[in-house]
Amino acid sequence: MGLAHWLLLLSLSILRVCGSCAGELKSEPELRSLTRDLLESARDPEFFRWMRDIRRRIHEHPELGFEEHRTSQLIRDELDSLGIQYKWPVAKTGVVAFMGSGEKPVFALRADMDALPLQELVEWEHKSKIDGKMHACGHDTHVAMLLGAAKLLKERENQIKGTVKLVFQPGEEGHSGAYYMLQDGVLDDLDGILSIHVLPNVATGFIASSPGPILAGSGVFSATIQGKGGHAALPHHNIDPIVAASSAILGLQQIVSRETDPLEAQVVTVGYIKGGHTANVIPESVKFGGTFRSLSSNGLLFLQKRIKEVVEMQAAVHRCTAVVDFGEDKVPLHPVMVNDKVLYEHVKRVGEILLGDGKVQLMPVTMGAEDFSFFADKTASLIFVVGIQNETLKSHHVLHSPYFFVDEEAFPIGAALHAAVAISYLDEHADADSACPNYGYPQFSTV
Ligand SMILES: *[C@@H]1O[C@H](CO)[C@@H](O)[C@H](O)[C@H]1NC(C)=O
Ligand SMILES: [Zn+2]
Ligand SMILES: [Zn+2]
Repeated sequence: MGLAHWLLLLSLSILRVCGSCAGELKSEPELRSLTRDLLESARDPEFFRWMRDIRRRIHEHPELGFEEHRTSQLIRDELDSLGIQYKWPVAKTGVVAFMGSGEKPVFALRADMDALPLQELVEWEHKSKIDGKMHACGHDTHVAMLLGAAKLLKERENQIKGTVKLVFQPGEEGHSGAYYMLQDGVLDDLDGILSIHVLPNVATGFIASSPGPILAGSGVFSATIQGKGGHAALPHHNIDPIVAASSAILGLQQIVSRETDPLEAQVVTVGYIKGGHTANVIPESVKFGGTFRSLSSNGLLFLQKRIKEVVEMQAAVHRCTAVVDFGEDKVPLHPVMVNDKVLYEHVKRVGEILLGDGKVQLMPVTMGAEDFSFFADKTASLIFVVGIQNETLKSHHVLHSPYFFVDEEAFPIGAALHAAVAISYLDEHADADSACPNYGYPQFSTV
């Protein structure tokens, strides 16, 4: 791609950011007073305690994907007392609340709700009361911050120029709850959506994200290699699936190392092998499985195709048969999580005014995945992280750690960011032609 082409793309994206087709940008003093007002309200001791107590109640009673009955009830009770209408159930335990006029444009804010099958090892007053279950990914905090945003927005409903939908999503941790929520028509009319995730690598008071691809597209696979079992001393009378599985697993390592562009990020990981019971028996079959990831959808489809071929053919080399299952009858591959460039610029500007210069960090791309990417596949979407790291509190343990701990002082930031983004986004898009063209922007995969 030539320089002129680059400049054209850049100028198009700058035009779009400047809002030539998207209503008027809110002036800096207007945004400053909006964000100050929201943050002060959310930091009010009574408001803060209300949000914190919601989080602590959910933390004490963690529920796994699609079992969030109690959490869902708590959300609906709080919405009821705030006088906010909602639709429930959306994907079993999910809730979608509505505020504003009911007209376009429609901006959504999303929180996931589920916990992990993990034993909490932090000793504190509000430790999980359920053995083997823990909110170790902070989804309890996401619900609290989104309810905080609901309260902030309800108090300012006259400022909502369009509709805000609050999406309380079940089953993020490997259950594809986002995919199932999107099967419900209630989310068909979104113009944009923001999701907030807490992150212990970022200090309290800071937020972070970056435009473009930010998390990998991903899929899972499981393989069964069928041989013929028998006595370990008579290999020639049997067909050994252990050796076939070993070859297949080693063969899978060469897809990324030998068949893909070294400049493209891809992962194939085998996470488990199950086969055999004892030293002197060749088993009938072996199962193994894992995950594959890429930052492009073509890359993801390529990995899927080659995993199937490599496993089936390595099995055949060893006289076995193989069945490879990608579970796609239940849920399709997770798309790449691409942060919308225009939305990113908008939230960055709001974040800088909310928290001050230098408080919005650039986040590196990782090969992690999020089912929020199902939203990103449908509408302009953005995931922003809110820092929770605080040395005094030792809240630096990674997501999914049994020692994961949260600096709750971050909640007002998350709630105010949600609310400020929704109000300002709708303000800027309220009078815009709804057929605003999407010019796109330079992405490494297209260059
Ligand atoms: C860390 O937490 C302590 C205790 O809550 C608090 O006093 C302190 O201000 C926090 N530090 C930051 C940087 O937020
Ligand atoms: Zn998680
Ligand atoms: Zn999470």
